Amino acid sequence: MRQYLLIPGPTPLPDEVLAASGQQMISHRSTEFARLLAETLEALRRVLLTRGAILPFASSGTGGLEATIVNLCSPGDTVVAVCGGAFGARFADIAEAFGIKVNRVEVPWGQAADPEAVRRALQETPDARAVLVAHSETSTGVRNDLAAIASVVREWPALMVADAVSSAGAVELRTDEWGVDVVITASQKALMAPPGVALIGVSERAWEAVKVARLPRFYWSFERMRAELGDVEAFTPFTPAISVVRALHAGLRMVEAEGLEARWARHRRTARAVRAGVRALGLRVVPREEDASEAVTAVWVPDGVDSTALLTRLRTEHGVVLAGGPGRMHGKIFRFGHLGWVPDEAVLAGLRALEAVLPEVGGPAGRGAEAAAAEILAMEG
Ligand SMILES: Cc1ncc(COP(=O)(O)O)c(C=O)c1O
Repeated sequence: MRQYLLIPGPTPLPDEVLAASGQQMISHRSTEFARLLAETLEALRRVLLTRGAILPFASSGTGGLEATIVNLCSPGDTVVAVCGGAFGARFADIAEAFGIKVNRVEVPWGQAADPEAVRRALQETPDARAVLVAHSETSTGVRNDLAAIASVVREWPALMVADAVSSAGAVELRTDEWGVDVVITASQKALMAPPGVALIGVSERAWEAVKVARLPRFYWSFERMRAELGDVEAFTPFTPAISVVRALHAGLRMVEAEGLEARWARHRRTARAVRAGVRALGLRVVPREEDASEAVTAVWVPDGVDSTALLTRLRTEHGVVLAGGPGRMHGKIFRFGHLGWVPDEAVLAGLRALEAVLPEVGGPAGRGAEAAAAEILAMEG
Protein backbone atom coordinates (compact mmCIF):
# COMPACT_ATOMS: atom_id res chain seq x y z
CA MET A 1 0.00 0.00 0.00
CA ARG A 2 1.30 3.43 -0.85
CA GLN A 3 2.03 5.57 2.21
CA TYR A 4 0.99 9.20 2.39
CA LEU A 5 2.95 10.87 5.15
CA LEU A 6 0.83 13.89 6.05
CA ILE A 7 2.23 14.88 9.42
CA PRO A 8 3.78 18.26 10.22
CA GLY A 9 7.32 16.89 9.88
CA PRO A 10 9.35 14.99 9.18
CA THR A 11 7.99 15.45 5.69
CA PRO A 12 8.37 13.18 2.66
CA LEU A 13 11.55 13.64 0.65
CA PRO A 14 11.51 14.34 -3.09
CA ASP A 15 13.65 11.97 -5.19
CA GLU A 16 16.38 14.59 -5.72
CA VAL A 17 16.75 14.98 -1.97
CA LEU A 18 16.76 11.24 -1.35
CA ALA A 19 19.50 10.78 -3.93
CA ALA A 20 21.59 13.56 -2.40
CA SER A 21 21.30 12.17 1.12
CA GLY A 22 22.18 8.61 0.12
CA GLN A 23 25.72 9.30 -1.06
CA GLN A 24 28.98 7.92 0.32
CA MET A 25 30.62 9.87 3.17
CA ILE A 26 33.28 12.46 2.51
CA SER A 27 35.50 14.27 4.98
CA HIS A 28 33.79 17.16 6.70
CA ARG A 29 37.17 18.89 6.45
CA SER A 30 37.25 18.61 2.65
CA THR A 31 36.88 21.56 0.31
CA GLU A 32 34.01 19.69 -1.34
CA PHE A 33 31.95 19.61 1.84
CA ALA A 34 32.94 23.10 2.96
CA ARG A 35 31.74 24.55 -0.35
CA LEU A 36 28.52 22.59 -0.18
CA LEU A 37 27.82 23.87 3.32
CA ALA A 38 28.66 27.46 2.37
CA GLU A 39 26.28 27.27 -0.59
CA THR A 40 23.59 25.76 1.61
CA LEU A 41 23.84 28.55 4.16
CA GLU A 42 23.83 31.18 1.42
CA ALA A 43 20.66 29.65 -0.04
CA LEU A 44 19.10 29.67 3.43
CA ARG A 45 19.80 33.37 3.77
CA ARG A 46 17.77 33.89 0.61
CA VAL A 47 14.95 31.67 1.87
CA LEU A 48 14.82 33.25 5.33
CA LEU A 49 15.29 36.70 3.77
CA THR A 50 18.11 37.66 6.07
CA ARG A 51 21.64 38.94 5.68
CA GLY A 52 22.55 37.58 9.12
CA ALA A 53 24.77 34.56 9.68
CA ILE A 54 23.06 31.16 9.63
CA LEU A 55 24.42 28.65 12.12
CA PRO A 56 23.95 24.94 11.37
CA PHE A 57 23.92 22.72 14.46
CA ALA A 58 23.66 18.94 14.26
CA SER A 59 20.48 18.51 16.27
CA SER A 60 16.71 18.59 16.03
CA GLY A 61 14.86 21.90 16.19
CA THR A 62 14.66 21.88 19.98
CA GLY A 63 18.44 22.05 20.13
CA GLY A 64 18.16 25.28 18.16
CA LEU A 65 15.75 26.67 20.76
CA GLU A 66 18.07 25.71 23.62
CA ALA A 67 21.12 27.11 21.80
CA THR A 68 19.30 30.40 21.39
CA ILE A 69 18.54 30.71 25.10
CA VAL A 70 22.06 29.94 26.25
CA ASN A 71 23.62 32.33 23.75
CA LEU A 72 21.35 35.29 24.45
CA CYS A 73 20.74 35.15 28.19
CA SER A 74 22.58 35.64 31.47
CA PRO A 75 21.61 34.48 34.97
CA GLY A 76 18.90 36.77 36.35
CA ASP A 77 17.50 37.68 32.93
CA THR A 78 13.81 37.72 32.10
CA VAL A 79 12.25 36.79 28.77
CA VAL A 80 8.69 37.17 27.52
CA ALA A 81 7.31 33.97 25.97
CA VAL A 82 4.12 33.64 23.98
CA CYS A 83 2.53 30.41 25.18
CA GLY A 84 -0.33 29.47 22.89
CA GLY A 85 0.55 25.86 22.26
CA ALA A 86 3.02 23.10 22.97
CA PHE A 87 5.94 24.70 21.15
CA GLY A 88 5.51 28.18 22.57
CA ALA A 89 5.33 26.57 26.01
CA ARG A 90 8.39 24.42 25.27
CA PHE A 91 10.47 27.50 24.49
CA ALA A 92 9.37 29.01 27.82
CA ASP A 93 10.20 25.75 29.63
CA ILE A 94 13.69 25.70 28.12
CA ALA A 95 14.35 29.23 29.35
CA GLU A 96 13.10 28.26 32.82
CA ALA A 97 15.29 25.16 32.83
CA PHE A 98 18.27 27.53 32.61
CA GLY A 99 17.03 29.66 35.51
CA ILE A 100 15.70 32.47 33.34
CA LYS A 101 12.56 34.21 34.60
CA VAL A 102 9.76 33.86 32.10
CA ASN A 103 6.90 36.29 31.74
CA ARG A 104 4.40 34.05 29.97
CA VAL A 105 1.82 35.54 27.65
CA GLU A 106 -0.85 32.88 27.99
CA VAL A 107 -2.94 32.52 24.85
CA PRO A 108 -5.84 30.06 24.67
CA TRP A 109 -4.60 27.11 22.62
CA GLY A 110 -6.01 27.40 19.12
CA GLN A 111 -5.92 31.19 19.05
CA ALA A 112 -3.26 33.52 17.69
CA ALA A 113 -1.42 35.82 20.10
CA ASP A 114 -2.67 39.39 20.34
CA PRO A 115 0.32 41.71 19.75
CA GLU A 116 -1.19 44.02 22.40
CA ALA A 117 -0.80 41.22 24.97
CA VAL A 118 2.89 41.14 24.09
CA ARG A 119 2.99 44.90 24.57
CA ARG A 120 1.44 44.54 28.04
CA ALA A 121 4.00 41.89 28.97
CA LEU A 122 6.83 44.17 27.87
CA GLN A 123 5.35 46.99 29.92
CA GLU A 124 5.45 44.66 32.96
CA THR A 125 9.00 43.50 32.24
CA PRO A 126 10.61 46.29 30.19
CA ASP A 127 14.10 44.84 30.69
CA ALA A 128 13.15 41.54 29.07
CA ARG A 129 16.13 40.20 27.13
CA ALA A 130 13.99 38.63 24.42
CA VAL A 131 10.48 37.84 23.26
CA LEU A 132 10.01 34.22 22.19
CA VAL A 133 7.26 33.35 19.71
CA ALA A 134 6.41 30.27 17.67
CA HIS A 135 5.61 31.66 14.22
CA SER A 136 3.62 28.62 13.09
CA GLU A 137 2.41 26.93 16.31
CA THR A 138 2.47 23.40 14.95
CA SER A 139 0.55 21.95 17.89
CA THR A 140 -2.62 23.93 17.16
CA GLY A 141 -2.26 24.89 13.50
CA VAL A 142 -2.13 28.59 14.32
CA ARG A 143 0.00 31.17 12.52
CA ASN A 144 0.99 33.98 14.84
CA ASP A 145 1.26 37.43 13.28
CA LEU A 146 5.02 37.65 13.59
CA ALA A 147 5.30 40.93 11.67
CA ALA A 148 2.85 42.66 14.05
CA ILE A 149 4.44 41.16 17.16
CA ALA A 150 7.92 42.14 15.97
CA SER A 151 6.84 45.72 15.37
CA VAL A 152 5.66 45.92 19.00
CA VAL A 153 8.87 44.30 20.26
CA ARG A 154 10.95 46.85 18.32
CA GLU A 155 9.77 49.53 20.75
CA TRP A 156 11.75 47.82 23.54
CA PRO A 157 15.38 46.69 23.80
CA ALA A 158 14.23 43.05 23.78
CA LEU A 159 15.34 40.82 20.93
CA MET A 160 12.66 39.30 18.72
CA VAL A 161 13.19 35.54 18.62
CA ALA A 162 11.05 33.44 16.27
CA ASP A 163 10.66 29.69 16.32
CA ALA A 164 10.16 29.18 12.61
CA VAL A 165 10.67 25.42 12.74
CA SER A 166 7.46 24.66 10.84
CA SER A 167 7.07 27.97 9.02
CA ALA A 168 10.36 28.60 7.20
CA GLY A 169 9.94 27.70 3.55
CA ALA A 170 6.15 27.30 3.84
CA VAL A 171 4.75 30.44 5.43
CA GLU A 172 5.59 34.03 4.50
CA LEU A 173 8.55 34.97 6.67
CA ARG A 174 10.60 38.13 6.13
CA THR A 175 13.24 37.95 8.81
CA ASP A 176 15.13 41.22 8.31
CA GLU A 177 12.23 43.32 7.03
CA TRP A 178 10.06 42.37 10.01
CA GLY A 179 12.86 42.95 12.51
CA VAL A 180 13.31 39.37 13.67
CA ASP A 181 16.66 39.09 15.45
CA VAL A 182 16.95 35.35 15.81
CA VAL A 183 15.11 32.85 13.63
CA ILE A 184 15.29 29.13 14.27
CA THR A 185 14.30 26.38 11.89
CA ALA A 186 15.10 22.73 11.25
CA SER A 187 15.88 20.51 8.30
CA GLN A 188 12.90 18.14 8.46
CA LYS A 189 9.97 20.44 7.82
CA ALA A 190 9.28 22.66 4.82
CA LEU A 191 12.91 22.52 3.72
CA MET A 192 12.31 18.88 2.71
CA ALA A 193 15.36 17.22 4.24
CA PRO A 194 15.63 14.50 6.89
CA PRO A 195 15.81 15.47 10.56
CA GLY A 196 19.24 16.30 11.99
CA VAL A 197 20.13 19.95 11.42
CA ALA A 198 18.87 22.97 13.35
CA LEU A 199 19.47 26.28 11.58
CA ILE A 200 19.68 29.55 13.43
CA GLY A 201 19.76 32.96 11.76
CA VAL A 202 21.37 35.62 13.93
CA SER A 203 21.11 39.37 13.29
CA GLU A 204 23.84 41.91 14.12
CA ARG A 205 21.75 43.17 17.05
CA ALA A 206 21.58 39.65 18.42
CA TRP A 207 25.37 39.24 18.11
CA GLU A 208 25.78 42.19 20.47
CA ALA A 209 23.69 40.29 23.03
CA VAL A 210 25.66 37.09 22.43
CA LYS A 211 28.89 38.91 23.31
CA VAL A 212 27.66 39.79 26.79
CA ALA A 213 25.45 36.77 27.56
CA ARG A 214 26.88 34.68 30.37
CA LEU A 215 24.92 31.42 30.46
CA PRO A 216 27.37 28.53 30.05
CA ARG A 217 27.62 26.91 26.62
CA PHE A 218 30.13 24.85 24.73
CA TYR A 219 28.62 22.73 21.95
CA TRP A 220 25.94 25.37 21.42
CA SER A 221 28.25 28.38 21.32
CA PHE A 222 27.18 30.71 18.50
CA GLU A 223 30.59 32.34 18.48
CA ARG A 224 32.48 29.06 18.22
CA MET A 225 30.24 28.06 15.31
CA ARG A 226 30.49 31.39 13.50
CA ALA A 227 34.28 31.41 13.76
CA GLU A 228 34.45 28.37 11.45
CA LEU A 229 31.91 29.46 8.86
CA GLY A 230 33.30 31.20 5.79
CA ASP A 231 31.35 32.59 2.85
CA VAL A 232 33.01 30.37 0.27
CA GLU A 233 34.04 27.46 2.47
CA ALA A 234 32.15 26.77 5.66
CA PHE A 235 33.38 24.38 8.32
CA THR A 236 31.80 23.50 11.65
CA PRO A 237 33.57 23.09 14.99
CA PHE A 238 32.16 19.57 15.44
CA THR A 239 31.20 16.82 13.00
CA PRO A 240 28.25 18.03 10.94
CA ALA A 241 25.32 15.87 9.78
CA ILE A 242 26.88 15.48 6.33
CA SER A 243 24.03 13.55 4.71
CA VAL A 244 21.44 15.96 6.01
CA VAL A 245 23.41 18.95 4.76
CA ARG A 246 23.58 17.33 1.33
CA ALA A 247 19.84 16.79 1.45
CA LEU A 248 19.24 20.36 2.54
CA HIS A 249 21.37 21.61 -0.32
CA ALA A 250 19.18 19.67 -2.76
CA GLY A 251 15.96 20.69 -1.01
CA LEU A 252 16.90 24.36 -1.06
CA ARG A 253 17.64 24.16 -4.78
CA MET A 254 14.09 22.97 -5.24
CA VAL A 255 12.74 25.73 -3.01
CA GLU A 256 14.58 28.33 -5.08
CA ALA A 257 13.55 26.79 -8.39
CA GLU A 258 9.93 27.03 -7.28
CA GLY A 259 10.42 30.60 -6.07
CA LEU A 260 9.77 31.78 -2.54
CA GLU A 261 6.59 33.74 -3.22
CA ALA A 262 5.21 30.93 -5.39
CA ARG A 263 5.98 28.49 -2.64
CA TRP A 264 4.17 30.52 0.00
CA ALA A 265 1.22 30.81 -2.40
CA ARG A 266 1.22 27.07 -2.99
CA HIS A 267 1.16 26.39 0.74
CA ARG A 268 -1.70 28.88 1.17
CA ARG A 269 -3.62 27.15 -1.58
CA THR A 270 -3.02 23.65 -0.24
CA ALA A 271 -3.96 24.72 3.29
CA ARG A 272 -7.19 26.32 2.07
CA ALA A 273 -8.01 23.17 0.13
CA VAL A 274 -7.48 20.97 3.20
CA ARG A 275 -9.64 23.25 5.34
CA ALA A 276 -12.39 23.21 2.72
CA GLY A 277 -12.14 19.43 2.52
CA VAL A 278 -12.44 18.78 6.24
CA ARG A 279 -15.27 21.30 6.56
CA ALA A 280 -17.16 19.49 3.79
CA LEU A 281 -17.07 16.47 6.12
CA GLY A 282 -18.74 18.45 8.89
CA LEU A 283 -15.51 18.84 10.89
CA ARG A 284 -14.32 22.01 12.60
CA VAL A 285 -10.88 23.52 12.04
CA VAL A 286 -9.26 24.66 15.30
CA PRO A 287 -8.12 28.23 14.51
CA ARG A 288 -10.11 30.98 12.87
CA GLU A 289 -9.64 31.10 9.10
CA GLU A 290 -7.41 34.18 9.25
CA ASP A 291 -5.12 32.63 11.88
CA ALA A 292 -4.71 29.23 10.24
CA SER A 293 -1.16 28.15 9.50
CA GLU A 294 -0.26 27.30 5.93
CA ALA A 295 1.90 24.45 7.21
CA VAL A 296 -0.55 22.30 9.17
CA THR A 297 -4.29 22.08 9.72
CA ALA A 298 -5.56 21.18 13.19
CA VAL A 299 -9.07 19.74 13.33
CA TRP A 300 -11.31 19.03 16.34
CA VAL A 301 -12.02 15.32 16.77
CA PRO A 302 -15.81 15.02 16.53
CA ASP A 303 -17.76 13.99 19.65
CA GLY A 304 -17.87 10.26 20.18
CA VAL A 305 -14.85 9.55 17.99
CA ASP A 306 -11.73 7.97 19.45
CA SER A 307 -8.83 9.78 17.79
CA THR A 308 -6.51 6.78 18.14
CA ALA A 309 -8.98 4.56 16.31
CA LEU A 310 -9.38 7.18 13.61
CA LEU A 311 -5.64 7.61 13.06
CA THR A 312 -4.97 3.87 13.21
CA ARG A 313 -7.57 3.06 10.58
CA LEU A 314 -6.36 5.82 8.31
CA ARG A 315 -2.85 4.44 8.52
CA THR A 316 -3.47 0.71 8.35
CA GLU A 317 -6.34 0.66 5.86
CA HIS A 318 -5.50 3.64 3.65
CA GLY A 319 -1.78 4.29 4.15
CA VAL A 320 -2.61 7.83 5.30
CA VAL A 321 -0.51 8.99 8.24
CA LEU A 322 -1.93 12.00 10.07
CA ALA A 323 -0.78 13.28 13.47
CA GLY A 324 -2.62 13.38 16.77
CA GLY A 325 -2.77 16.29 19.17
CA PRO A 326 0.30 16.88 21.34
CA GLY A 327 0.21 17.49 25.08
CA ARG A 328 -3.10 18.73 26.37
CA MET A 329 -4.58 18.47 22.85
CA HIS A 330 -4.15 14.70 22.88
CA GLY A 331 -7.40 13.02 21.84
CA LYS A 332 -9.04 16.37 21.15
CA ILE A 333 -7.57 17.25 17.78
CA PHE A 334 -5.83 15.61 14.88
CA ARG A 335 -3.42 17.34 12.53
CA PHE A 336 -3.05 17.19 8.78
CA GLY A 337 0.42 18.32 7.72
CA HIS A 338 0.86 19.93 4.31
CA LEU A 339 4.29 21.50 4.34
CA GLY A 340 7.25 20.96 2.10
CA TRP A 341 6.79 18.57 -0.77
CA VAL A 342 3.06 17.89 -0.87
CA PRO A 343 1.64 16.85 -4.23
CA ASP A 344 -2.06 17.70 -4.65
CA GLU A 345 -2.66 14.01 -5.12
CA ALA A 346 -1.45 13.26 -1.57
CA VAL A 347 -3.77 15.87 -0.09
CA LEU A 348 -6.72 14.46 -2.01
CA ALA A 349 -5.85 10.91 -0.96
CA GLY A 350 -5.74 12.05 2.67
CA LEU A 351 -9.16 13.67 2.44
CA ARG A 352 -10.63 10.69 0.61
CA ALA A 353 -9.44 8.37 3.35
CA LEU A 354 -10.80 10.66 6.05
CA GLU A 355 -14.18 10.67 4.36
CA ALA A 356 -14.20 6.87 4.25
CA VAL A 357 -13.01 6.26 7.81
CA LEU A 358 -14.93 8.90 9.78
CA PRO A 359 -18.33 7.18 9.67
CA GLU A 360 -16.67 3.84 10.49
CA VAL A 361 -15.41 5.23 13.80
CA GLY A 362 -18.64 6.98 14.78
CA GLY A 363 -18.01 10.33 13.10
CA PRO A 364 -20.14 12.26 10.64
CA ALA A 365 -20.87 10.69 7.26
CA GLY A 366 -20.01 13.80 5.29
CA ARG A 367 -19.44 13.75 1.56
CA GLY A 368 -17.51 15.77 -0.98
CA ALA A 369 -14.20 16.45 0.78
CA GLU A 370 -12.15 15.68 -2.28
CA ALA A 371 -14.36 17.76 -4.58
CA ALA A 372 -14.27 20.76 -2.23
CA ALA A 373 -10.49 20.60 -2.04
CA ALA A 374 -10.02 19.92 -5.73
CA GLU A 375 -12.06 22.98 -6.59
CA ILE A 376 -9.64 25.20 -4.65
CA LEU A 377 -6.58 23.43 -6.00
CA ALA A 378 -7.85 23.93 -9.54
CA MET A 379 -9.00 27.53 -9.03
CA GLU A 380 -5.66 28.82 -7.86
CA GLY A 381 -3.45 26.17 -9.37
C1 LIG B 1 7.10 25.07 15.95
C2 LIG B 1 8.02 23.98 16.39
N1 LIG B 1 9.00 24.25 17.25
C3 LIG B 1 9.85 23.31 17.67
C4 LIG B 1 9.75 22.01 17.23
C5 LIG B 1 10.69 21.00 17.77
O1 LIG B 1 11.47 20.47 16.78
P1 LIG B 1 12.20 19.06 16.97
O2 LIG B 1 11.15 18.04 17.13
O3 LIG B 1 12.95 18.97 15.66
O4 LIG B 1 13.09 19.17 18.14
C6 LIG B 1 8.75 21.66 16.34
C7 LIG B 1 8.59 20.27 15.88
O5 LIG B 1 7.54 19.85 15.44
C8 LIG B 1 7.86 22.67 15.90
O6 LIG B 1 6.89 22.39 15.02
